[in-house]
Amino acid sequence: LSLLVLISGGGSNLRALLEASSDPGYPARVIAVGSDTEADGLAHAEEFQIPSFTVLPTAFESRAAWGDELLAQIDRWSPDLVVCAGFMRILPPAVVTALAPRIINTHPALLPAFPGAHAVRDALAAGARTTGVTVHVIDEGVDTGPVIVQREIAVLPGDTEHELHERIKVVERELLVQAVRDIAEGLVDLKETAAR
Ligand code: GRF
Repeated sequence: LSLLVLISGGGSNLRALLEASSDPGYPARVIAVGSDTEADGLAHAEEFQIPSFTVLPTAFESRAAWGDELLAQIDRWSPDLVVCAGFMRILPPAVVTALAPRIINTHPALLPAFPGAHAVRDALAAGARTTGVTVHVIDEGVDTGPVIVQREIAVLPGDTEHELHERIKVVERELLVQAVRDIAEGLVDLKETAAR
């Protein structure tokens, strides 16, 4: 299964996929990495000698124009699956329509709880005793697509946002690597999941 991974930040989830795909036994390969910024995580792609591209929103007149260019860049690689791993942009509907259901996202909360860009902070602010990680198919909404897999994670007394997020990310990268494996091996059928 060929993967194109989209990132915005440090790329620890990307790195987990790069390491997994270095194992000949793993049924998926990262073929390209895309970002919306000069993300630190692009260094992981460089280290693993995987091509990368950046589509800067500030270079475009509109979100739609940015989305069209992002889609054109993705299509150049014809990936079997697009993985949003810490990608902090909302994809325009045209992009989702073109790629769904072969596009998944990982989110550091138990969706539908705490959608959006500050899931960990929001869970803490809400006094949640547990939160978690969700890998889901992307649909037209924000963090609303059908769930592929979720895992609960305890919130510990005194947790800072960073401490909790780092604990979440340990589980998140395991869950993401496993979810991609399940998709590659046909244990998860994205069309069936999306049709739920
Ligand atoms: C991940 O927890 C992702 O779910 C969230 O931000 C974090 C990005 O981490 N959106 P990284 O860039 O993969 O290290």
